[in-house]
Amino acid sequence: MGNIAYDFTGRTVLVTGAARGIGFEVAAFFRKANADVILVDFDGPEVMEAAAKIGGIGVQADVSKTDDVERSVALAVEKTGRLDVVVNNAGILRDKVVWKLTDEDWDAVLAVHAGGTFRYTRAAVPHFRAQNYGRIINVTSYTGLRGNTGQSNYSMAKAGIIGFTKTTAKELARFGVTVNAISPNAETRMVASIPPEKLAELAAGVPMGRFAHPSEMAAAIAFLASEEAGYITGVVVPVDGGMSM
Ligand SMILES: NC(=O)c1ccc[n+]([C@@H]2O[C@H](COP(=O)([O-])OP(=O)(O)OC[C@H]3O[C@@H](n4cnc5c(N)ncnc54)[C@H](O)[C@@H]3O)[C@@H](O)[C@H]2O)c1
Repeated sequence: MGNIAYDFTGRTVLVTGAARGIGFEVAAFFRKANADVILVDFDGPEVMEAAAKIGGIGVQADVSKTDDVERSVALAVEKTGRLDVVVNNAGILRDKVVWKLTDEDWDAVLAVHAGGTFRYTRAAVPHFRAQNYGRIINVTSYTGLRGNTGQSNYSMAKAGIIGFTKTTAKELARFGVTVNAISPNAETRMVASIPPEKLAELAAGVPMGRFAHPSEMAAAIAFLASEEAGYITGVVVPVDGGMSM
């Protein structure tokens, strides 16, 4: 990564699911842009290592648990004095066709994607309101708009995140807070679980002809998180090589 055209000096950015994949690359990008970065993940040792690597603050927390969420937000404010940006990125998959899904498969996916996004938004709002400034970037998916076999739980959560993004964008606009989402397409551990033939078929359907490196998601998130993007709210930006056209 070369020089970064963003400057987040004096801003605190909290990224969930930051131990690896998109979350880690996003955290690294913000760190290079001089932000104080809080990396949250339920994978404790991994997130501490990731944080040490980039000079951020690692926190082991489960985004589906209210106490963990509140504790990590409190820690961000305690350590850096503020909270400006929340990136709701943590995610899991429990893929099965709908008739094979268990209650656990259903509840776990909804609790992390939809529940985590809700919990961090709720926890951040008092800080955002107090400073009359805030940025939330949620991570949704093509699956939430178009559906994908084996992902009814995930598509329910990701479509829900789009509605939640727009609703909270409306609720929070008067407090100087924007809420937006990206819809990514990047080669991560999550994509590694897709069978090779299906992956080749998916890549062939991308106008750019390839999946992105996870670091290619960061610039779009940083743009939406920038002070300068303050008149953009409630949108979903596809960062997908043209796949959703
Ligand atoms: N990779 C893609 O092409 C793609 C496409 C569409 C959407 N997404 C979304 O992007 C986001 C990041 O995905 P990724 O591909 O980097 O996946 P990944 O599996 O590489 O990383 C996800 C991270 O989230 C963490 N996590 C999971 N559950 C958690 C919880 N309850 N609390 C805290 N941390 C938790 C994991 O430990 C992991 O570090 C997800 O929301 C995913 O749904 C990814």
